[in-house]
Amino acid sequence: MKVLVTGGMGYIGSHTCIALHEAGITPVIYDNLSNSSIRVLDQLEKITQQRFDFVEGDINDSAKLAKTMVEHSIEAVFHFAALKAVGESAEQPLRYYQNNVSATTTMLLTMAEVGIKAIIFSSSATVYGDPKYLPIDETHPISSTNPYGWTKVMVEQILEDNCKANQDNLAIALRYFNPVGAHPSGLLGESPNGIPNNLMPFIAQTAVGRREFINIFGNDYDTADGTGVRDYIHIMDLATGHVAAFLAHQKDAGFLAYNLGTGEGYSVLEVINAFEKSSNKQVPYKFAPRRAGDIACNYADASLAKQKLNWTATLDLQAMTDDSWNWQSKYPNGLE
Ligand code: NAD
Ligand code: UFG
Repeated sequence: MKVLVTGGMGYIGSHTCIALHEAGITPVIYDNLSNSSIRVLDQLEKITQQRFDFVEGDINDSAKLAKTMVEHSIEAVFHFAALKAVGESAEQPLRYYQNNVSATTTMLLTMAEVGIKAIIFSSSATVYGDPKYLPIDETHPISSTNPYGWTKVMVEQILEDNCKANQDNLAIALRYFNPVGAHPSGLLGESPNGIPNNLMPFIAQTAVGRREFINIFGNDYDTADGTGVRDYIHIMDLATGHVAAFLAHQKDAGFLAYNLGTGEGYSVLEVINAFEKSSNKQVPYKFAPRRAGDIACNYADASLAKQKLNWTATLDLQAMTDDSWNWQSKYPNGLE
């Protein structure tokens, strides 16, 4: 079976291609390379011994999408393609709504045109806004604090409405908590452009000597050590979660949403400590004021995925920092 992986050259999409391949599902990658490198394809080949089909294209380009879907007899779409920087989304909201919402609608129309009925969508725990209770389950109220988050809320709504109108359609929104780590081979990982916004790549770049120190945003939160707590999930666990969701619901219809997290929260200081152990390097840090829009604590109730998908995360924080360091030390400047 062949599936289209939009954004498949990016961080999460590329790792998911490996998990799909391992499950006997053939990924066809569709990506405009706006936030990824063509070299990902070579790395995927080294890992899987398979050259995946790749189409350089934009999801706004309905004609190219339709042609790709038909030529490859695509049966489902794994939709990762999106812009993802929270801060940037507040500065350029229209660009985010266009790329993440309008383009997704275009793609859904194209899917309908060529008769593809199933989509697995990269959503985010950001759709829960400021948590009203912890752990967060899938019935937690939906909201957002920034345009990026609203794009995820809106696409979920579009998918739900579309499934109501077309009762043989399937849409699974996977709400990721904090994806981190790299493929255990060290051949593939996360390499953000510019200064990393997220914790793990910033720590990794500090450990490898690209940055002098890391700012810890806030040490006065109501958490055990005062620093922010998040549910970090290993990228390979996240990848297998996609396969599990697809296989469990392949014959179903309707709109479904699942948390993909470990159910456990770790503080910024705990992550830094684990990284120091993995790298055998000191990670210098300074306490800085809280970052605007940040919440104190966030972790998943991951029991629905366990119950319905027979999936749980298996890799712990040390595996996440080990693999992150393995990748960062092999490729200090990413693939470029
Ligand atoms: P990424 O930037 O590494 O990957 C996204 C890929 O999509 C890139 O390769 C980019 O070139 C491509 N792309 C973007 N717009 C496109 C378009 N219009 N047409 C074709 N390709 C396009 O990001 P990622 O971390 O792998 O995230 C994948 C998905 O998961 C995104 O939807 C993101 O919002 C979501 N998500 C990510 C996180 C996270 O922390 N990384 C958390 C929750 C949700
Ligand atoms: N942090 C630092 N220093 C840094 C970077 C982060 O102290 O340089 C802290 C943050 O304050 C937070 C924790 O590390 O306490 C994690 O921060 P990240 O930026 O790695 O992750 P967030 O939880 O803030 O953001 C993630 C995703 C977003 C998504 C958001 C809400 O990256 O896409 O979760 O679900 F919108």
